[in-house]
Amino acid sequence: MSNKTENTISANVTNFFRSLFGDEEIQSKFSFDREPRGTKGRLEKLPLLDLESRDDFLTGFRFWGTKMAVPAAARRFNKILLDNGLDTKSINTELEDVFPLIENDPILGIAARYRTGVHDVMHRNFDVEFKSNADIYLDEMEGFDNIGPGKLELNPNLKIPDYASYEIHTQPGGYVGNPFAGHIYHYSTNNFYQGLRVSNYQDELHTKLANQVPAPEDGLVNRVLDQGCGIGQLAVALKERFSEAEVWGIDVGAPMIRYGHMRAVELDVAVNFSQRLVEDSQFEDNSFDIVTSYILHHELPEDISKKVVGEVNRILRPGGVFFPIDFQTGAYKGAESAWARYMQFKDHRWNEEVWRQEYGKFNFPQAMREAGFKVIEKGPPAWRSKYNLLAVKV
Ligand SMILES: C[S@@+](CC[C@H](N)C(=O)[O-])C[C@H]1O[C@@H](n2cnc3c(N)ncnc32)[C@H](O)[C@@H]1O
Repeated sequence: MSNKTENTISANVTNFFRSLFGDEEIQSKFSFDREPRGTKGRLEKLPLLDLESRDDFLTGFRFWGTKMAVPAAARRFNKILLDNGLDTKSINTELEDVFPLIENDPILGIAARYRTGVHDVMHRNFDVEFKSNADIYLDEMEGFDNIGPGKLELNPNLKIPDYASYEIHTQPGGYVGNPFAGHIYHYSTNNFYQGLRVSNYQDELHTKLANQVPAPEDGLVNRVLDQGCGIGQLAVALKERFSEAEVWGIDVGAPMIRYGHMRAVELDVAVNFSQRLVEDSQFEDNSFDIVTSYILHHELPEDISKKVVGEVNRILRPGGVFFPIDFQTGAYKGAESAWARYMQFKDHRWNEEVWRQEYGKFNFPQAMREAGFKVIEKGPPAWRSKYNLLAVKV
C-alpha cells in the first residue's frame, strides 16, 4: 500500500470522526460538572456521558474492524497473492513484492488504517479531557501517593532510555511523557479488549492470567514480581491470588504506576509499585519466587529483551519460575504467513509498535537457555494460547 493511498484513507476516516465528535475546542468551551459517575466494575466511568458515548461508538467501530474488516482484508490479500502466483504461507514471500499488488485495493486500504483512525480519535478524546482538567486529576493522584496499603516509589533521577520514550501504539506522550499516561492506558486498553469482545472492566483478563501463572514446584511463594506492570492490573490480581506474598510491580513510566498505585489503594490491595528498569531492576540476587510480565517484550528492542531474561535469572531464587506472556511466548507465533508478516509491518509502520517486527523474529526459548534457565516450551496456557513458555531457575 503506498503511503499516499493510506494517508488519504486515514485522513478521511479521521476527519469524518472529528466532524462527528468535534474537537478539543468544543470540549474546553463548556464547563461541565465532573461529579463521579460511578464505576463499571473496577473501571471508573468516564466523567462525562458525552465522553462515554464517544468511547462506546469507537469500541463498536473497532469491533467492526477486528471482526469484519480485517478478516475480509485477509481473504482479499491472500486472493491477490494467489492470483499473482505468490505463496501465501511461505516465509520466502517478500512483502516488497506484495506491496505493489495491493496498494490500490480499497478493502485493504480501509482495513489498513481503520485502527489508526480509532486510535487518533480515542486518544484525543481521553487526552483532552485529562489535560483540560489537569488540576482535578493531578490532585486526585497526589492524595494517594503516600498512603497504603502498598507503597509507591517514584525515581525522578531514573535515566529514561530512548527506546522507552516512543509514543507506543500512538498513545500521546507514551508511557513516560504524559502525566495521564495511566489514565489513558486504562481506558484505551479497555476499548481495545472490548473491541475483541474480551471484557476487562473488572480485570477479568488479568485475573485469569494471574491464575495461570505456575507456582514453583516446592510451592513456596514469598515474593512475586510483575515486570512492566503498567497500571498494575496483573500485579493486583497476583496479590489477590498469592495473598501472603509480597508483590511488586515495576515500570519505567512514573505516570503509569502512579495511577496504578491510586487504583490499588482504592481496591485495598497491597502491591508495591516502583519506578525501575526491567533490565536493571536493582533488586537483590535470588530474591523472588516468581517473575511475570504481560505484553512487555514486544515493546522492547531485542538486545534489551535478552538483558531482561538475564536479569530475571539473577533475581529469581533457584527453583523460581519465570512466566513472561507475550506473542512469541505462546502457541501463536504468527510470523510465517505473508498476511501475518504484513500485519506486523502495519503495526510497526502505522501503530508506533517500533519493535514489533524485530520481536517477531526473537527466539525467546534460546535467550532463556543462554541465560541458564531450564526451559519448558509448552508450559501452562496463557491468554489466547494453548501453552506458554515457562523457565525455571536451576
Ligand atoms: C504494553 S504495556 C503492558 C502493561 C501491563 N503489563 C498490562 O497488563 O497492560 C508495557 C509496559 O512496559 C513498560 N516498560 C517498557 N520498557 C520498560 C523498561 N525497560 N523497564 C520497565 N518498564 C518498561 C511500559 O512503561 C509499559 O507500562
